Amino acid sequence: MNVPLYEKIWMWASAVLIVAFLATIGVGVAGSALQPPSHVETIDPATVWRDPRFARRGVTVDANGVTVVAVAMMFAFNPGEIRVPARRPVTFRMTSSDVIHGFQIVGTNGNTMVVPGYVSQFTTTFDRPGEYLIVCNEYCGLGHHLMSAKLIVEEARP
Ligand code: CUA
Repeated sequence: MNVPLYEKIWMWASAVLIVAFLATIGVGVAGSALQPPSHVETIDPATVWRDPRFARRGVTVDANGVTVVAVAMMFAFNPGEIRVPARRPVTFRMTSSDVIHGFQIVGTNGNTMVVPGYVSQFTTTFDRPGEYLIVCNEYCGLGHHLMSAKLIVEEARP
């Protein structure tokens, strides 16, 4: 098969681009510990407030580690203030009682969609104590821009 030089150059250039784009995924996974939430757990969005998994919202610290249970709704997160210890793995478990929301802890790799009907779960560790802004990053209605919460990462007590 006779492929003209010019066409060969473009074929190689596009192959290089594909490899480069795939590499960005690898860098994100390995370098920043970014990964798609793969936790599949369903819930009836109409009964979220009565569901035992979400009856006690807030932070629990026990032998299983640090767990944050929260609900996203138009246009707030419940609870609106979350306190967790620094340098310990924190597992977030969230769901929505109405529409799709986002849960992004600004400046960290904590970020998930919160989809009605599902429990979104991810685990991350916060190395730097301080106050972090949590925002909804999925457009969810007229009050979307008001939907935020606060994460306080506290220096672990010995
Ligand atoms: Cu909730 Cu945007």
